[in-house]
Amino acid sequence: MPAASLASSSAQAAAQSFDVRPFAEKVGAEIVGLDLSKPLNDADFARVHQAHLDYHVVVFRDQQITPQQQIDFSRRFGVLQIHVLKQFLLANHPEILIVSNIVENGQPVGLGDAGKYWHSDLSYKELPSLGSMLYAQELPSEGGDTLFADMHRAWDTLPEHLRKAVEGRSAVHNYTARYSEGHNAASWRPTLTPEQLAQVVEVTHPIVRTHPENGRKALFVSEGFTTRIVGLPEDESRALLQEIYDHSVRPEHIYRHHWQANDMVFWDNRSLIHLAAGCPAHLRRKLHRTTIQGDAPF
Ligand code: OGA
Ligand code: MN
Repeated sequence: MPAASLASSSAQAAAQSFDVRPFAEKVGAEIVGLDLSKPLNDADFARVHQAHLDYHVVVFRDQQITPQQQIDFSRRFGVLQIHVLKQFLLANHPEILIVSNIVENGQPVGLGDAGKYWHSDLSYKELPSLGSMLYAQELPSEGGDTLFADMHRAWDTLPEHLRKAVEGRSAVHNYTARYSEGHNAASWRPTLTPEQLAQVVEVTHPIVRTHPENGRKALFVSEGFTTRIVGLPEDESRALLQEIYDHSVRPEHIYRHHWQANDMVFWDNRSLIHLAAGCPAHLRRKLHRTTIQGDAPF
């Protein structure tokens, strides 16, 4: 159990009765009957933590929680990361990034598309994210799904010649890799200030990482933030990465989340990559994200 949960003083909170129901896809599970507006006692927290490790993405149904309650629950897993796009942080709660396509008075209220390309949150940092929690505020009547791909399975099933080609190698991750690529008016992105650019200097991580809690290996590259493999010629690097991306997102590695009102989704960025499928621009979509800092990948 992470130190953060031991340090919390909720051991005496009342036990809650809830179910963990794995999805048929084997990636992901829903948690039904748990109320995150109440502090979890250590035994309940341990079950949630284990479900997160086993299924990589857990969906808490029917939550009615405040921003502070989302922050408090997120903190039990570790230190929270503040997103570089300061203009999209919730007022008085900078730990929450607003993900939204809504434009009010000509100003976007949040990050219009937080993931049009497959990615692992904050993989462009020295300390990428352990996991992210996304809590539905407003959902469109169609579209807006989030897809998750299991990178443990992707590694386990990677053809031998590709395993050999990447094992022991590192790749460069850069926030600005595809920052404004393929964007339109509805998914406009602000120009990064020199100060913001200084916070997202590119980093290098192993292509195959070992999950610090479950011990399993996982691929840790994605089209969103990975730019090249260290030590390979540009064309070879590009071709190899493309083969890995294609394999990673094969249908059998994927859980597609269709959002329900009051869902809070918590995924493991060390085990999965994810993608925002997008929704028609005229339909409103808004979610609140907290991001928990993880370890340096090894
Ligand atoms: C994110 C993200 C996906 C979505 O918030 O990190 O990638 O469907 N969101 O909004
Ligand atoms: Mn994301």
